[in-house]
Amino acid sequence: MRRTVTRLLAMTALALPLILPATPATAAPTTPARQLADVIPAPVETRPDARGTFQISPLTVIRTAPGSVDAWQVGRQLADTLRPATGYPLPVLPVRATPLPEIALLIGGADSRVGQQGYQLDVTRRGVTIRANTPAGLFAGTQTLRQLLPADIESPQRQRTTWTVPGGRIVDYPRFSYRGAMLDLARHFHTVDEITAYVDLLSQYKINYLHLHLTDDQGWRIQIDSWPRLTSVGGGPGTGVDGVGPGYLTKADYKAVVAYAAARHITIIPEIDMPGHTNAAQSTYPELNCDGVAPPPRTDTAVGYSSLCINDELTYRFVEDVIRELAAITPGPFLHIGGDEAHATTDEDYRTFMQRVLPLVSKYGKRAYGWNEIMQADPPTDAVAQFWGTGTTNTDLAEAAARGNKVIMSPANKAYLDMKYDRNTRLGLSWAAYIEVSDAYGWDPATRVAGVGENAVLGVEAPLWSETLRSLDDIEYMAFPRLPAIAELGWSTTASHNWESFRTRLGQQAPRWRLQQVDFYPSPQVPWR
Ligand code: ACM
Repeated sequence: MRRTVTRLLAMTALALPLILPATPATAAPTTPARQLADVIPAPVETRPDARGTFQISPLTVIRTAPGSVDAWQVGRQLADTLRPATGYPLPVLPVRATPLPEIALLIGGADSRVGQQGYQLDVTRRGVTIRANTPAGLFAGTQTLRQLLPADIESPQRQRTTWTVPGGRIVDYPRFSYRGAMLDLARHFHTVDEITAYVDLLSQYKINYLHLHLTDDQGWRIQIDSWPRLTSVGGGPGTGVDGVGPGYLTKADYKAVVAYAAARHITIIPEIDMPGHTNAAQSTYPELNCDGVAPPPRTDTAVGYSSLCINDELTYRFVEDVIRELAAITPGPFLHIGGDEAHATTDEDYRTFMQRVLPLVSKYGKRAYGWNEIMQADPPTDAVAQFWGTGTTNTDLAEAAARGNKVIMSPANKAYLDMKYDRNTRLGLSWAAYIEVSDAYGWDPATRVAGVGENAVLGVEAPLWSETLRSLDDIEYMAFPRLPAIAELGWSTTASHNWESFRTRLGQQAPRWRLQQVDFYPSPQVPWR
């Protein structure tokens, strides 16, 4: 459950010190000393310095790189995060020499290894300094700082806690540039508030892409002006699995989600699934069917029965309209065209379709991305394939990798967050596997599929399909604690991969999730605090 309070506070950032409650709440619980390495995803390098412990106080200021609006935004978000629990004013000011204790967010001057997404974090008795080459790197550093503070920092109410940060230096940067999550809005629609609440959680674990599965047999969830009944009918009352997941994003909603995510350094990737998984469109517009007859709407969970009409020019007018309108409201580089489970399309028709559609994605300035089946259509080498298989071989994918195509790893028996944890899990499916936390953590993206090595892997993604999910609570229960496992596989080095370390650090996250009202699965594999 969540949390309108947090959203409200975020919107009133600067006014906040004036409206803090006068009487603070509870006494400090004793918490075990945190170490610099008690972070998920595991940082690349930590050098603790016991003499350097810093304590945030009522006098602490947040200073940001002069002239950088983006750095100031990161500072403002950090202040929004730290103010409710500390009750401190934490003004956000441009950098200058000062005797005050400070948290400084600086562009430049970091260890050369940090690249475009990493950061260097130094903690001394005088303050905390985060240095990065980009605002995204600074933001990542602030998420680490958040985890280095006592868990009480996540409380929406003022706490009487000593706000110490362990001393030393962290140098940190990702193994893979792409660390994603996917949310299925088609099987059950999820609202803007639910999507943005998920974005808040993802950003804490340095996830930087959110893929939205916007269309499927059971519903169409994105406004397309040139085909208006897609949403009024295809996303309207009675759509979704069991007919109880109606709704859609207007273009204004979608833009709001894109902007909210961008402010947390997460890029939205829209998916229109085709040429299969299209019953919602085809039941709405008869002309999208080869026989001109609209099939009935479907609210069951069968797959593989629908196909756009491959040899009809109208199909490509439809697809181009959708791609054009969607590309125009998508600032990110990728447009996902699905391509999975097209069992009602012949192999030849599938290739014909993809060879017509792939150039349309480039025509509107986007890079094509699809489920691994698109590699059967010999796409150009800038196309990205999302591996969702359960095996460890895939000839088409290995050949594509050899040609230079990049791959996102989402093996369904490891990374699918909608799989049940075990046979007793109330939500979810089990066709790929039961996935306990150790299973989600226990694989390597660069050795999972033969012939698809480190250089071919762009990153990892944790998809969450919504056949059984209704609410934000349901989303949280399936994503936590497995999402942080996938996030660590995407960010941390293979040398740091260690189940004992991971499950200990995961257990330390629980008090934070409780304070954020995240409904997580209390796996028996994890020593929960
Ligand atoms: C998929 O799970 N059909 C990509």
